[in-house]
Amino acid sequence: MTNNIRILAFAGSLRKDSYNKALIKAAAGLSREGVTIEIFDIEGIPLYNQDLEKDAPAKVKAFKESIRSADALLIAIPEYNRSLPGVLKNAIDWASRPYGDNSFDDKPVATFGATGGSIGTAVAQYHFREIASFLNMHPLEKPQMFVTDAHKKIENGTVVDEETKKRIAEMVDALVKWTKRINSSE
Ligand SMILES: Cc1cc2nc3c(=O)[nH]c(=O)nc-3n(C[C@H](O)[C@H](O)[C@H](O)COP(=O)(O)O)c2cc1C
Repeated sequence: MTNNIRILAFAGSLRKDSYNKALIKAAAGLSREGVTIEIFDIEGIPLYNQDLEKDAPAKVKAFKESIRSADALLIAIPEYNRSLPGVLKNAIDWASRPYGDNSFDDKPVATFGATGGSIGTAVAQYHFREIASFLNMHPLEKPQMFVTDAHKKIENGTVVDEETKKRIAEMVDALVKWTKRINSSE
């Protein structure tokens, strides 16, 4: 790891005005000395097919390379039926394969999520932790960030609520600290 911490951020939504894309956009817009946040758009990742995993589609290769070259990951997780949206699980499945070539291995990761509902994607984020455990990621435990009533805090794909912006900044700062801690314990 260099002195500069590179964070790869992605959201599990393809929706143009996605609340979760808005969260990562706000994170990427923060100015932090020695921290770079790059956004990867998972749009265009095809449905997983094990026949193709040894010579994966170009978009999948790009996703895996972006994950590998990042020091940490920041994932905005929408909640669909109390779990991850299929598009996100599909992207994760691709990047975890083929067996022995899991690009998530040993990566510090922070999650947050937004919904118009009242649970704030907590169930989906906890479900993600099971996947993260299997893939040997290192999830940041605190702060947790479950954005409820997102329609009141995010407008046209942009976070407008000051408290939410503050919590995003705290999340990024905590992820940077966590990443340094993980890497110093090698
Ligand atoms: C198939 C489907 C299932 C959903 N299930 C949940 C759910 O379990 N919990 C929840 O809080 N919101 C649920 N929602 C509402 C989503 O949180 C909402 O569509 C949100 O805008 C998705 O995130 P995005 O704006 O980033 O695309 C669901 C939406 C869809 C389309």
